[in-house]
Amino acid sequence: MRAIAITEFGADPEIVQLPAPEPAPDELFVRIRAAGYNPVDLKIASGAMKNTMPYRFPMILGVDGAGVVEAVGVEVTRFKPGDEVYGRFLDTTRGLGSYAEYGVVSQDGPVALMPKGMIAEQAAAVPTASCTAHDLVETSRLDTGQTVLIVGATGGVGQSAVQLAALRGARVIASASPDADELMREMGAVEIADRFVSPIAEQVLDRHPDGLDAVFDLVSPADSIEQMADLLHPGGVIISTIHSLDPSSPAYREIRAVNLLVKPTGQLLSVLADLIDGGQLRVHIESQVPFDQAPALLRDIANGHARGKTVIKI
Ligand SMILES: NC(=O)c1ccc[n+]([C@@H]2O[C@H](COP(=O)([O-])OP(=O)(O)OC[C@H]3O[C@@H](n4cnc5c(N)ncnc54)[C@H](OP(=O)(O)O)[C@@H]3O)[C@@H](O)[C@H]2O)c1
Repeated sequence: MRAIAITEFGADPEIVQLPAPEPAPDELFVRIRAAGYNPVDLKIASGAMKNTMPYRFPMILGVDGAGVVEAVGVEVTRFKPGDEVYGRFLDTTRGLGSYAEYGVVSQDGPVALMPKGMIAEQAAAVPTASCTAHDLVETSRLDTGQTVLIVGATGGVGQSAVQLAALRGARVIASASPDADELMREMGAVEIADRFVSPIAEQVLDRHPDGLDAVFDLVSPADSIEQMADLLHPGGVIISTIHSLDPSSPAYREIRAVNLLVKPTGQLLSVLADLIDGGQLRVHIESQVPFDQAPALLRDIANGHARGKTVIKI
């Protein structure tokens, strides 16, 4: 099968021919039709996470994918050939990922039937970003009428977080530049903070001197996230998706500071599929690229020359 893989950490991703994976007795063998790009794909390829995971080369990249079940292992009872599924196909121990013609995933793993109203090119953009957004809202215990600032709201995680927080009845402040203002408001934001006008923290403090209930921070590094935490009133919660917080710091004595690690499950993917089919959650895809062009696109993203939720057509 064709796959996009690396032969060592830091190497350029390339299209290679590899044997199709063998499904274990509990696994689905899926013909992947589309793969969704996430920033973690390039973090893994760079070697930044090599001490936290087992791995082997050649390593197929990609976590998220969507396609059709072609065969199932002998123990599989909940899926059958022909089912259209979406989920996470990364298995670094076996060098497997979603940027390939075939992938495998356990029936008990992060896989579910695709949202009925979506095609694979849309569904592949959902799993990691929307599961993370869901976990942000759950972890924050956000309630109706509370105010949350989402820093990095226009990206994959941010867009879903804006929608799911608004669905909870929260007032959402989204960080976004003017070109994304309309999209953010359609998704449920009631206020926008544009980082290119003045620092986000300054704008929000001016408008909310009594403090916010929650901050979801998807971008601030460790040396600047304290400015965002300072926007909370006592009892508020700040959550980082990039591990920027030191929860034991005295700076966070009166608030909850959480570094989130997403825990995607098949059950959660089914919940998200229902929300999508109910019109309560949508995914805005910035670009779709054919498989042959994906290695070049990944190089562009790594060099900072591309943005947005991107899907690779396989
Ligand atoms: N911990 C976990 O389990 C977990 C799970 C999922 C994701 N993550 C991490 O969370 C981060 C966000 O993921 P994603 O998929 O949403 O990424 P993404 O799609 O690349 O989105 C990042 C967003 O942040 C914006 N941004 C960049 N610099 C900013 C700044 N200084 N201030 C405000 N906004 C800024 C970008 O806007 P522009 O395009 O305008 O620059 C973009 O909209 C990534 O680092 C990812 O690896 C962690």
